[in-house]
Amino acid sequence: MSENFDVKLDGKSYLPDPSVKESSWIQDYETAYNDFLKDPEGHWANIAEELDWFRKWDRVKEWEHPYAKWFTNAKTNITYNCLDRHIFNGKRNKVAIIWVGDDGKEEVITYRQLYREVMRFANGLKSLGVVKGDRVCIYMPLVPEQIIAMLACARIGAVHSVVFGGFGSNALHSRIKDAQAKIVVTADAAIRRGKRLDLKTLVDKAVVNASCVEKIVVLRRMSPPMELFSEIEVDFNEILDKEDKECEPEVMDSEDPLFILYTSGTTGPAKGIVHTCGGYMVGTYYTSKYMLDLKESDVMWCTADPGWITGHSYIVYGPLSVGATILITEATPDYPNPGIWWSMIEEFDVTVFYTAPTAIRMFMRQGEEWPQKYNLDCLRILGSVGEPLNPEAFEWYYRVIGKGKCPILDTWWQTETGMHMITTAVGEPMKPGFAGRPVPGIIADVVDENGQPVPPGTGGLLVIKEPWPSMMRTVYGNDERYRQYWSTIGNYYTAGDLAVKDEDGYIMILGRSDDVLIVAGHNIGSAEVESALVSHEAVAEAAVIGKPDPLKGDSIKAFIILRVGYKASDKLKLDLVYHVRMNLGPIAIPSEIEFVESLPKTRSGKIMRRVLKARELGKDPGDLSTLEE
Ligand code: WTA
Repeated sequence: MSENFDVKLDGKSYLPDPSVKESSWIQDYETAYNDFLKDPEGHWANIAEELDWFRKWDRVKEWEHPYAKWFTNAKTNITYNCLDRHIFNGKRNKVAIIWVGDDGKEEVITYRQLYREVMRFANGLKSLGVVKGDRVCIYMPLVPEQIIAMLACARIGAVHSVVFGGFGSNALHSRIKDAQAKIVVTADAAIRRGKRLDLKTLVDKAVVNASCVEKIVVLRRMSPPMELFSEIEVDFNEILDKEDKECEPEVMDSEDPLFILYTSGTTGPAKGIVHTCGGYMVGTYYTSKYMLDLKESDVMWCTADPGWITGHSYIVYGPLSVGATILITEATPDYPNPGIWWSMIEEFDVTVFYTAPTAIRMFMRQGEEWPQKYNLDCLRILGSVGEPLNPEAFEWYYRVIGKGKCPILDTWWQTETGMHMITTAVGEPMKPGFAGRPVPGIIADVVDENGQPVPPGTGGLLVIKEPWPSMMRTVYGNDERYRQYWSTIGNYYTAGDLAVKDEDGYIMILGRSDDVLIVAGHNIGSAEVESALVSHEAVAEAAVIGKPDPLKGDSIKAFIILRVGYKASDKLKLDLVYHVRMNLGPIAIPSEIEFVESLPKTRSGKIMRRVLKARELGKDPGDLSTLEE
């Protein structure tokens, strides 16, 4: 560390410059947390009061384990808080979205323009017969229209289900079917590293045998514009041009669903996590403002895609409800060179930057000279999400990007939690490797299998002990799977993560306790990759494990038993990789494939991935009593 950094390093923690707190929303973490403990409902009511409601709540919380209702009988619309109230408060010409394309092309959209476009598209959806409660699947590249489509759904009370544009056709198909989506909003193509990636062809495959789909709305970005053949296809811009330019926000009950977002589970297909209008709005507004310390004057760049929860909460709903400017880009971090992101931070005066450890580790590899070419003094707050931020990456992020003056927020949370749950509040001592302490409003702990807190320094399971406003309300169409979250360990919400707490209550996340893999910050269920592999004609059985990877967190290794008549070969490995890519998408591709004769199984026939993993890593496989002979 060089001496011009205003930090104290006591061997364990970094103390940010005291000036960081001068203007921060949370002045003192302990005070904020204790105030919450004294009056938990008052804490959430005070935050909700900062937002606009058509009708206020009767009760802040109703809790009948495991079902929670927040802000009962309150009425609102999240788009009113993200758009109308800024328009009415003299901020119509403030920039809402800055978009940068893969080729460097820019688009700047003010709050007024966004408001107009959202209302127009909302009317367009209505003209297609979409009504409150209908599900709309959004499968798009990272373009402003993706956000417009999300907000337009919310405007009229339709439930959006955004599917990340990097998913393959099978993943899309199962999500469309599970949600029984009436409409699919898509684009002709995404652009990555100068190359066109067709999306529409994947949609065409995905809607086969999905009779719920009545219309496909296509944003045509390419020239010449692709032809729309069937009568169920409509042009995105055409439905924007309906007569009526005004669209009053639908009056939504606080507990009405806002969206479904799919996330991988240990077993079975992806789970449709359901979030509601009131609680989710309060949770994302609260954490954007008080944890990320977001102000209206900030330019926030969250590098996720809106197709993930991070994008839902910290590109779209949180920052827009605060009234900040958001930067989004279709550009990849190392194309055309590894300086592209840093050049964008300089160019657009980004003040709050939120990314994933995988990206940070990739930049570390490229060398400090890339960020050093640019003036990054505009940065005020740095965030991390998706997987543990290892101390080396923390140190690099802090020193090279933050120049020792920006607090680093390692935020732990999940699709299911909707908002940040554990982090280090701005201005508080930061401990590399530790996410931090529970957000005021959240009661988190590390416990043993019986729900008893484990002493500091001992590993255990991460649980949340009390409900919070932005918690998921159910798993779409499968409430049993929802109840499991609240019944695995005592009456607590079980996150599925292993963690350890220190003497000061700081929590370090150690990784998943189940077979969910975190590859480059994305959740992938072992079971999903296995079923994609088994759907290939050559594969009889497949088992998938995660191997620690210095860059990606986990890398995927697949063990394959071939069907009789098929021969192991490198060509077959490539075929299998391609098959997974087309079915699930590039993020789920195994980096290693091994053909085997048998797989370790329990007597009941379940593959013991734990044993495979231990063998692979040369570790003790533990209890083998259930292993088949
Ligand atoms: C992991 C992403 C360590 C964790 C917001 C969790 C993290 C899963 C962190 C949820 C972090 C997320 N440190 N691990 N700061 N943030 N995770 O649903 O295993 O895509 O359970 O939500 O990512 O992933 P999801």
